[in-house]
Amino acid sequence: MYDMQTRILQQRIESVKTTWLNMNVLSYSQFNRERLSDLCLVTNAMRKMVAKCGGCDLLKGKILNNVFFEPSTRTMCSFESAMQRLGGTTVRVLPSHSSSKKGETLQDTLRCLECYGDITVLRHPEKGSVPGVAKYLKKPLLNAGDGVGEHPTQALLDFYTIQNELDGKVDGLTIVLLGDLKNGRTVHSLARLLINYDVKLRFVSPASLKMPEYIKEEVQKKLEFTEHEHLNEVLKEADVLYVTRVQKERFENQEDYLKVQGTFNINQETLSIAKEKMIVMHPLPRVGEIHEDVDSDPRAAYFRQMENGMYVRMSLLALCLTGRGDGNEN
Ligand code: NCD
Repeated sequence: MYDMQTRILQQRIESVKTTWLNMNVLSYSQFNRERLSDLCLVTNAMRKMVAKCGGCDLLKGKILNNVFFEPSTRTMCSFESAMQRLGGTTVRVLPSHSSSKKGETLQDTLRCLECYGDITVLRHPEKGSVPGVAKYLKKPLLNAGDGVGEHPTQALLDFYTIQNELDGKVDGLTIVLLGDLKNGRTVHSLARLLINYDVKLRFVSPASLKMPEYIKEEVQKKLEFTEHEHLNEVLKEADVLYVTRVQKERFENQEDYLKVQGTFNINQETLSIAKEKMIVMHPLPRVGEIHEDVDSDPRAAYFRQMENGMYVRMSLLALCLTGRGDGNEN
């Protein structure tokens, strides 16, 4: 059974149009429609394989270095589960146990780790640090969040979720991004990934947490977007409501955080004016922005979104380690 599933996945991976082998995944900007479509096809195959038999041997003998210098539950564990379901194994590196405590540079830590493993997933608190360290490495590096910069693998699973939940269509949708748009790296990646599609973006946040100018400038080249402080100005037209938490750890002083914390609280009543087919997404963790009474609403897609995260990350690992290409994509 395992061997047959491995063969089916190999065929699917060989059928993709774009090159992936040895690719770093560092930014939304590496993804166009064709690459996204390849990723979705392979992800559908991963989902089927897991439903059928839980795992296979596609990445048997491969090791993932999972390096997290910031807290993580979903990203870290979904990469680990992804690797294990494909027959590979994981080495987990946390800062409290690593030589960075002794003053070692990030590049030295990673260069050593790639002597042991085949692919590295890195989360780091400094914006730009993950793309910055890629030039020192020979093996694929996946950005699992660089401070307030980007979170491209999250944007990919968000994209997969949107198209999977809404009948495969992304063109024509109205997508509301709500919450801490200033500091939320997931929305920084997602807003710009969506410029590949003909969507309307609505940015909803307190005035002090607006989407940064450099991101709006980029979005504006391709898409129509508007900015709001109140959700009810845009909720009726929304096909996707993407909620984020206020990023407490990015505030310099507690007082500023307290001013904006609790601005949004989506509950069943809020959703009463929303479309019946709208979906509510959230990268999680939530800290009060979505009331638990929304969880039983079929529109609540955030736990399905988390599950998709594992399938998408299975695809990324498989494509970067066994996908099409000449092995010199970096
Ligand atoms: C996000 C992150 O770390 O940026 N979480 C995640 O990866 N699922 C969102 C957040 O922390 O708010």
